[in-house]
Amino acid sequence: MVKALNFKRHRRLRSSSAMRSLVSENHLRMDDFIYPLFIVEGENIKNEVSSMPGVFQISLDFVKDEMEELRSLGIKAVMIFGVPNEKDEQGTGAFIETGIVQEATRRIKKEVPEMLVVADTCLCEYTSHGHCGVIHNQDVDNDESLKLLAKTAVSQAEAGADIIAPSNMMDGFVIVIRQALDEAGYTNIPIMSYAVKYSSAFYGPFRDAADSTPQFGDRKSYQMDPANRLEALREAESDVEEGADFLIVKPALSYLDIVRDVKNTVNTPVVAYNVSGEYAMVKAAAKNGWVDERELVLEKMTAMKRAGADLIISYFAKDVAKWLNE
Ligand code: PBG
Repeated sequence: MVKALNFKRHRRLRSSSAMRSLVSENHLRMDDFIYPLFIVEGENIKNEVSSMPGVFQISLDFVKDEMEELRSLGIKAVMIFGVPNEKDEQGTGAFIETGIVQEATRRIKKEVPEMLVVADTCLCEYTSHGHCGVIHNQDVDNDESLKLLAKTAVSQAEAGADIIAPSNMMDGFVIVIRQALDEAGYTNIPIMSYAVKYSSAFYGPFRDAADSTPQFGDRKSYQMDPANRLEALREAESDVEEGADFLIVKPALSYLDIVRDVKNTVNTPVVAYNVSGEYAMVKAAAKNGWVDERELVLEKMTAMKRAGADLIISYFAKDVAKWLNE
């Protein structure tokens, strides 16, 4: 026995599983997860995304089964991405009444009305050039793009979306969408803004899944520079002023410092988007037997909570639900 030394015995609170649970500061619960879905035009399609094992592009006829699976797992919210057959310069497929996201939203709300539908509001999946807005002189035109984004948001609300999630990083997108929703009578539909979205190599697998790789250049004139922190706070503050109800930080895991900064700066719920590349890396390592997938994923999810995420958007949501139910 070491005597008379005045050190703290931290291990007292780690002595058993029950003791550790008693003092656990953060918890995972399925109410906090949003599961992303890729809906593709056509019929009888269920394509696994090659860089995202376990994630599928599905056609509308698979929506019912998917919703039943999610409901049985206790997942209460989905985020919808559309993969259209036809693309054009303006991204028309994003805002027409018969667009794939609008159809999928109606289908989901018919099959499982209590499922919350979060509509990703962007143009990149629908434009022939793959950029998130209208192109003028080889650059994305901010204010022209806002008009189409507002139209997209209203058409998604008309289809029954519960939450509008603009992700194209145009300045002013929150206020313009808020105004358009209000004018169309959707004063009660909240905006979950991708307020802090970095220009990131972690989106690679998503662009396979959503077929949205830019055909020229990159997204650096509208998505943020990974070197910057204060810029994230400026983005967060302006989106709150413009009326955002939730703020997303994206990607999540290389940006947990930013999640914490945003959490300490704003009073809205903060959402961490655990993106496609973060998913793919874990899947690849697990497939090789290099990591324990379950332990690793639960650790990462808990880390997002500890950093201040109120909600988590993740392709792992189904796995987490299964693990938590075990
Ligand atoms: C649309 C959008 C992207 C993601 C979500 N919404 C792609 C991008 O900005 O290139 C990425 C999500 C992921 O990687 O999981 N703009």
